[in-house]
Amino acid sequence: MACDNDPMPQSYEFDVLIIGSGAAGLTAALNLPEHLQVAVVSKGDISSGATLWAQGGIAAVLDDADSLENHISDTLSAGGGLCHEDAVRFTVEHGRESIDWLIDSGVTFTRDDESHYHLTREGGHSHRRIIHAADATGHAVSTTLTSQAQARSNISLMSRRVAVDLITNRKLSLPGNACVGAYILNLEDNHVELFRARFTIIATGGASKAYRYTTNPDGASGDGIAMAWRAGCRVGNMEFNQFHPTCLYHPHAKSFLITEAVRGEGGVLLLPDGTRFMERFDKRGELAPRDIVARAIDHEMKRLGADHLLLDISHKPADFIRHHFPTIYEKCLLFGIDITRQPIPVVPAAHYTCGGVLSDERARTDINQLYVVGEAAFTGLHGANRMASNSLLECLVYGRAAAADIARRESDIPPPPTAPDWDESQVRDSDEDVVISHNWDELRHFMWDYVGIVRTTKRLQRAKHRIDLLEREIGEFYSNYRVSNDLLELRNLVTVADLIICSALQRRESRGLHYTLDFPGLLHEAKDTVLVPTTYRRPNP
Ligand code: FAD
Ligand code: SIN
Repeated sequence: MACDNDPMPQSYEFDVLIIGSGAAGLTAALNLPEHLQVAVVSKGDISSGATLWAQGGIAAVLDDADSLENHISDTLSAGGGLCHEDAVRFTVEHGRESIDWLIDSGVTFTRDDESHYHLTREGGHSHRRIIHAADATGHAVSTTLTSQAQARSNISLMSRRVAVDLITNRKLSLPGNACVGAYILNLEDNHVELFRARFTIIATGGASKAYRYTTNPDGASGDGIAMAWRAGCRVGNMEFNQFHPTCLYHPHAKSFLITEAVRGEGGVLLLPDGTRFMERFDKRGELAPRDIVARAIDHEMKRLGADHLLLDISHKPADFIRHHFPTIYEKCLLFGIDITRQPIPVVPAAHYTCGGVLSDERARTDINQLYVVGEAAFTGLHGANRMASNSLLECLVYGRAAAADIARRESDIPPPPTAPDWDESQVRDSDEDVVISHNWDELRHFMWDYVGIVRTTKRLQRAKHRIDLLEREIGEFYSNYRVSNDLLELRNLVTVADLIICSALQRRESRGLHYTLDFPGLLHEAKDTVLVPTTYRRPNP
């Protein structure tokens, strides 16, 4: 077993390698049997990832006036006809036990009184069903699970390590179709280490960093999705990028979300002249599902030439606001905005990747002994538009499902085969890193302009043309130079951006989060967009 302070050997062997230390990865780690040796690697600190930043809460049926059927039907309705009902039912039915597990693990949720937790509301939910820790739920979940994992002797938490690629039997020219570990760059000494494992779990989060404006942390570059795709896994519904309607608009605020719970507790959206507008777009007003609200804001901003709109909760008592939204209150105050007295300037920003690596109810992928959990996965839960606060729920339910499946089959799986060390003999240090920073900026810029909230075929084709050029340039760079975190992230971003564009070009309708002016209608049949690596051909729209 190893820990962060040990001198690092060049290769490791574990029973289970988990790539990613967010809610999904840590839930899987903590639910595995304690006789298994588990490595959890994270490319930043152990608490890096979107989980730490989650605000609103976790959706689950916890109130007697609510029901599983209500949560299921709200999720199906937000998902625009594309959710897999079996996945929705599976997730919702495992909601309560997952929340109980978090509470038993020590997460302190906000209470109404001694015997009741406070449940808030968010878009698309017909009932109050979001359990939360004020407006910093992710912080409570992440810190609690991390300290639980630190206390477990079978779990090695290994930070500042970036997975480069998965190792499969096929790559080793061995029979079978199994994943047997990964090559991982140690950022402390810039060497690539060999991790061999009987089971590997991808828990690397989403890919919203493909967009110029995002609510996500820097590492959300879709690494796990790109690695799984390169290894031969199918990827689904990548065109459904969720844009959160309300990110703080301020020249010095980077990626700061204003939780949907602000609208759930009575916040209203306003045009610059102070008039409300959401009722014109949906009778549910501010609490319509996210795709509708983000599109309405985008529409009004373009119509008026405004660079932001406003979100106002100042009509509520100041104590109520400070009690429910302490983090947002303090953060906005730092920028000179007192939310108890003034509206908050907001814009939409890329927030969540609804598609991902195809997986089943056990979190298994197309490759044996390879699992995927959390935002990197495509379980079928979210359909064409994820309902608010269903994501952390999915991390918990499928993290536990992956652990249970591994526990069931681990005695049948032999130790991983030997594998060669990473070969650096043909590469040298880069002398033009400007290529990486330039291409990174360019990609995020055109993804925002051409593959954003409102799309057209022509814009998607323009983006595809640029992606093809970047793909060649980055491929060449990768073959010639030593890997670095920036290069690896860019390589993965180019891959996921390509998957997003190709999926968007294949969808000849507007459904959920994918809205195109060329096909504004809805097709009769709702179908997933599934890309298959081996038969992958460029679409010819
Ligand atoms: P993450 O928490 O993103 O963790 C990814 C992990 O993978 C990190 O440890 C990262 O370092 C690691 N990693 C990535 N690539 C590599 C690599 N190549 N090598 C090694 N490690 C790697 N959802 C809700 O349900 N409720 C909410 O209230 C909510 N609020 C949100 C607020 C914000 C601001 C954001 C950004 C998201 C919010 N979401 C919310 C969405 C939700 O937080 C995420 O979908 C969820 O936390 C994802 O968890 P995860 O474990 O899949 O990935
Ligand atoms: C929010 O708090 O608005 C984010 C919730 C989510 O993304 O599910």
